[in-house]
Amino acid sequence: MQAVVYEELGGPEVLHLAEVPTAEPGPGQVRVRVEAAAINGWDVKSRATRTAGMPAPRFPVVPGLEAAGVVDALGDGVTGVAPGDRVAGFTTGGGYAEQALLTTFAPVPDGLDAPRAAATPVAAETAHRVLRLLGVRDGETVLVHGAAGSVGELAVRLAVHAGARVVGTASPRHQDRVRALGAAATTYGPGWAERVRALAPDGVDAVLDAAGAGVLPDSIALRGGTDRVVTIADPAASDLGVEFSSSSRRDPVELAADLAAVARDDLTVTVARVLPLGEAAEAHRLVETGHPGGKVVLTP
Ligand SMILES: NC(=O)c1ccc[n+]([C@@H]2O[C@H](COP(=O)([O-])OP(=O)(O)OC[C@H]3O[C@@H](n4cnc5c(N)ncnc54)[C@H](OP(=O)(O)O)[C@@H]3O)[C@@H](O)[C@H]2O)c1
Repeated sequence: MQAVVYEELGGPEVLHLAEVPTAEPGPGQVRVRVEAAAINGWDVKSRATRTAGMPAPRFPVVPGLEAAGVVDALGDGVTGVAPGDRVAGFTTGGGYAEQALLTTFAPVPDGLDAPRAAATPVAAETAHRVLRLLGVRDGETVLVHGAAGSVGELAVRLAVHAGARVVGTASPRHQDRVRALGAAATTYGPGWAERVRALAPDGVDAVLDAAGAGVLPDSIALRGGTDRVVTIADPAASDLGVEFSSSSRRDPVELAADLAAVARDDLTVTVARVLPLGEAAEAHRLVETGHPGGKVVLTP
């Protein structure tokens, strides 16, 4: 099968199409004929540099943490799904390919297109995880940095559903999008903390940094301490005493509910661009800008 691979770390240009063996699904896995594979910041970062504490990459690497497609083979012990079913989930061994193995997966509801289904698992799992960590409750005020991003838009809607008042930061062009999610919006950049204070004069109860753009010191000041401040993207977290959340708990039941909520528009997953597999390098360049305007998705 064809897949996007890289054989050395480097810029987006190291990504190229290659013929690779088709893997057989292991216990609990399904193999899908990929309809769409979404790109995450992790794919871009791990293509560029070796992450401290992570094992050395085994080349060739097929990137991609999440995909949607049609089941074409079942591993031992898989029940409740049959060849021909449409599913989306977390990959093992990469997603930017004609076929992929999924370890945690759930059905794609009728009416949900493959790009949005593929773009849901990582961002939704992350948004649930950080809101649980923050312990967001009814009536509280939550600040979300990067509210128009893929994790941010899901976190805003989950927090609003929980009854919180949300203030979200985004670029000028995404202010309306953040308001449409149910948050009060303001721009990031110089003076952002004063603008948030004006929108939340009684202070903020919790802060999610889904941007990683150096906003933690002022966020700690706004919150009145590091308690209930969480980042998913700022490596300065440990120096500042802030929790960096990265470990995931992949739950097929939660994923099924999230896919259904996205299909009903109760949760928002914005796909900015859909590109063919052969344009993976361009797709990574878009994500690397830090302002892709939504998920970037590849289709074989
Ligand atoms: N630790 C984890 O478990 C985990 C999981 C998923 C993602 N991540 C990481 O979390 C980050 C966000 O992921 P994502 O998929 O949501 O990325 P994304 O869709 O690219 O969103 C990034 C957002 O950051 C905003 N932004 C850029 N500069 C900003 C600034 N100075 N202040 C506030 N917001 C700013 C952008 O807003 P505009 O477009 O409006 O400029 C954009 O909406 C990435 O670094 C990703 O690698 C971590």
